[in-house]
Amino acid sequence: MGYREIYEGWQADPERFWLDAAQAVDWTRAPEKALKDDAAPFYEWFADAELNACWNCVDRHVEAGRGEQLAIIHDSPITRSTRGITYAELQARVASLAGALRAKGVAKGDRVVIYMPMVPEALEAMLACARLGAIHSVVFGGFAAQELAVRIDDCTPKAIIAASCGIEPGRVVQYKPLLDRAIELASHKPDFCVILQREQEVAKLIEGRDVAWHSFQYGVEPAECVPVAGNHPLYILYTSGTTGQPKGVVRHTGGYMVALAWSMPNIYAIGAGDVFWTASDVGWVVGHSYICYGPLLAGATTVVFEGKPVGTPDAGTFWRVIQNHRVKSFFTAPTAIRAVRREDPEGALIGDYNLRSLQAVFLAGERADPDTVTWVEEKLGVPVLDHWWQTETGWAIAANPFGLEHLPVKKGSPSVPMPGYKVKVLDEGGHEVAPGTLGAIAIELPLPPGNLPGLWNAEERFRKAYLTTFPGHYETGDAGYVDEDGYLYIMARTDDVINVAGHRLSTGAMEEVLASHPAVAECAVVGVTDSLKGQTPLGFLCLKKGAQTSPEQVTKDVVELVRDRIGPVAAFKSAVVVERLPKTRSGKILRATMAKIAGGEDYKAPATIDDPAILDEIGAVLRMAGFPAAAG
Ligand code: COA
Ligand code: AMP
Repeated sequence: MGYREIYEGWQADPERFWLDAAQAVDWTRAPEKALKDDAAPFYEWFADAELNACWNCVDRHVEAGRGEQLAIIHDSPITRSTRGITYAELQARVASLAGALRAKGVAKGDRVVIYMPMVPEALEAMLACARLGAIHSVVFGGFAAQELAVRIDDCTPKAIIAASCGIEPGRVVQYKPLLDRAIELASHKPDFCVILQREQEVAKLIEGRDVAWHSFQYGVEPAECVPVAGNHPLYILYTSGTTGQPKGVVRHTGGYMVALAWSMPNIYAIGAGDVFWTASDVGWVVGHSYICYGPLLAGATTVVFEGKPVGTPDAGTFWRVIQNHRVKSFFTAPTAIRAVRREDPEGALIGDYNLRSLQAVFLAGERADPDTVTWVEEKLGVPVLDHWWQTETGWAIAANPFGLEHLPVKKGSPSVPMPGYKVKVLDEGGHEVAPGTLGAIAIELPLPPGNLPGLWNAEERFRKAYLTTFPGHYETGDAGYVDEDGYLYIMARTDDVINVAGHRLSTGAMEEVLASHPAVAECAVVGVTDSLKGQTPLGFLCLKKGAQTSPEQVTKDVVELVRDRIGPVAAFKSAVVVERLPKTRSGKILRATMAKIAGGEDYKAPATIDDPAILDEIGAVLRMAGFPAAAG
């Protein structure tokens, strides 16, 4: 059966489709019903069933005779080391860690925050929580103490599992002082912290609160898998919204396992014994789904890569990893490819490696510009497949279902909706627009398995942020169009979220930091088009009258403040001081117009603008600061 038949089959009988897909998962109580819809517009999947995610990702493969196969390959050019962990070893390590957590009181439903770099222990920590039915919340290592504190207060973890450090090119990022500071800042205090000491930085442990990864496991009884209900949360993953308060996306166990199990063969063409590599970070949704749970669920080998596309040591790293570990499908963000291309425009380094194992490259996280897609396709000679999704959805909304049927590629489009998703392009009134017309992209409810059932402890926010604008639909926050063949094109966000190097960031959160500077009267942060990172943030500051400081000092201060409060991942490096901000007559700041001016793009002053002369002022300031600044 091809894509069309499968998609139509799902449309004809969604309940049957997902119950069939559920057979790829081991249940301790099999589902009789797929969808629970009695509390619409809130839906849940496989609520009547019981399973354990860790069992599905680890133990069952050992039982099936795959114990000696590698489950994880850690390839770390940054520490110049490589190691492999078999499924049998992974089972033993995870059961031991889970046993130690249990011995210290962690049980089903408790939250555990994980703050770790790209080491296999990060996956082991996630799986150990899953084994106990504890709910993990992984926080990306590039976030600062304040961001970690906000997440600690929101999900109130019983324990935090962290490493002593992460390693970035040229510097060791000490995690322990960040963790200590975050716990100090947070109102909620965890009962204990587990610290993985890395040889690059041995952290000082706090007596009575911190335990060391290895010693706290000594002599404990390994834990068995605890069955949980299909609608039991597996994890909470925080993502950027329009304000400084991140959204805690909840993921239920049953639907997630079913959706990922469907996606591995049908989208990525990966099965047991294959090697799958996603070059992302466990701190992002891509890392949760396709570094940890997806490939392990399929019985594949997952590559955990601790390095960068360039500089560790060169732009040939990706190709070396693919060659050395015989990677079959490779998934990364377009920005990573752009970084490689910038260093090695001819792809000369590719010729140094044997890439015969590689069947396809998958891209997501930001719009895949046709130029980048063409470059990889030409250099590697394999299909390059864009797919579109979000932290909220957990897996692809639209993709080219390569494993099922390799559909014709249209560059600039992530292709077609996956089964489970009825995608619509709507105008402001919620009416579907004609093909080729730009609109807001919404998905008809219910969302398929794997998607968020809600936000952690924030039902009203969930309703307001996603379900209110277009009743009966989930609002994606993305705008785009669909063509005559049903291919989707994702062009921009409809909110103040920006995408920097494939990382989703909130300009609202940055504005809150800027506004906290005593000399700042008013501010705005916009995402300016960037040839490497897609977008980079730029701050506009209006100073208070009589502020006792210079514009140079304030811009320097706010750059430091954002790094300190949000973290280096915000990549906030520039700000300019302006007299006034352009606004509509109703007082709304014209961020999109400012972004265009800063990016040197053509723009038109909106009809609703209060005083068009401000745009010229802004253009002049930006030109002085070295931005291209278009004339309008
Ligand atoms: N811990 C601590 N700091 C981190 C970090 C981590 N896990 N990840 C990134 N940072 C820091 C970087 O060191 C950098 O710091 P600097 O300002 O001191 O240089 C800053 O955060 C910004 O990082 P980034 O935006 O990633 O820029 P970069 O210059 O380090 O690298 C790319 C640029 C394109 C190579 C890199 O962003 C990349 O590989 N992107 C792929 C994105 C991706 O996988 N996204 C996931 C969605 S699929
Ligand atoms: P995140 O939740 O961090 O995965 O970010 C999700 C957002 O990234 C989406 O809402 C889009 O704005 C953007 N995005 C992700 N993948 C794509 C893609 N393939 N094409 C265009 N935009 C994408």
